[in-house]
Amino acid sequence: MSDKSKDILSFFQKRSVVLTSETSDFVSGEEIAKELGFSRTAVWNHIKTLRRLGYEFEAIPRLGYRLVKSPDCLFPDEIEASLNTHILGKKIYYYDETYSTNTIADQLARDGAPEGTCVLAEFQTNGKGRMGRQWISPKRKNILLSVIFKPDLDPSRVSLMTLMGSIAVARALHTLGFDAQIKWPNDIYLEGKKVAGILTEMSCEQDKIKHLVVGIGLNVNSSESDFSETLRKDATSLYIIGQREMDRKTVLKELIQALEKAYHLVKTHDDAKLLEAWSQFSILTGCWVQASFGLKKIEGVVLGIDQNGALLLKLESGLVESILSGDIKIKYDRQNCHH
Ligand code: BTN
Repeated sequence: MSDKSKDILSFFQKRSVVLTSETSDFVSGEEIAKELGFSRTAVWNHIKTLRRLGYEFEAIPRLGYRLVKSPDCLFPDEIEASLNTHILGKKIYYYDETYSTNTIADQLARDGAPEGTCVLAEFQTNGKGRMGRQWISPKRKNILLSVIFKPDLDPSRVSLMTLMGSIAVARALHTLGFDAQIKWPNDIYLEGKKVAGILTEMSCEQDKIKHLVVGIGLNVNSSESDFSETLRKDATSLYIIGQREMDRKTVLKELIQALEKAYHLVKTHDDAKLLEAWSQFSILTGCWVQASFGLKKIEGVVLGIDQNGALLLKLESGLVESILSGDIKIKYDRQNCHH
């Protein structure tokens, strides 16, 4: 959006009681032109541009224009302006459609983009999930976000960044009134179904993290019918749980702010607080689970996680195994697990 279109938009946003029908909302083209120092033709052209972007204006002769509806798009200008952060979201890249926000963010980081840079998309043609899976999300319904980080962290401790991301998503959802839980390593659950996933990808050089990208897919307004038959029994969204559509901008704002807070714990090497926050949301602690990596499967009770974010599993033999990655299936939950 050009700076002039932005000026006109914020002019309306400041003045209008959006979505009310009071005539006082109307502003004449002449008034806008005078106030912003544009010609009336320029005002008209910028309103046309804004309409093309999905902003709805009502125009009545002699009264002027009023903004009646903003599009449900995660336009970066609006998001950047609403954030209360120091590192994250100072620069947001936005795509109506792209292959994968993680790939874009990685490329931007290679080209020197600073820590905190965010990439958002309304749709991904090649959304990546963990373990080579796909992440599918219908257009303009959910949040697809990738953030560039440059932590001073040993590559062996990179799992802490996934942990950090999960804590942030869980906290943001709690702020919005949802009782979210973390299923190690990267899934966020609501009422026993997955509502968000995190994919952390890092780029290293000589045993040092150059940068990493934390990608978050959060199902906000997906409905049951947006999920495939197979996914339906395991996946959910804020809309399905809360029975009402959510304002994606508000959700995104909470999410980015929560990420900045959780990242602060990594930056200050406050492992104790990070682990404590994780335990508070952990769905697995105390459960009897089956962990699988490739063809190998082991079972045990989850004790928690260690300093590097590895899952600690106590096997039947009494041996404690630490697991850095893998798929976890709950066999018995806390109530039914007596090991
Ligand atoms: C998983 O649960 O397997 C992780 C899913 C991560 C999906 C997000 S969507 C935004 C970002 N871009 C991607 O291609 N993937 C992540």
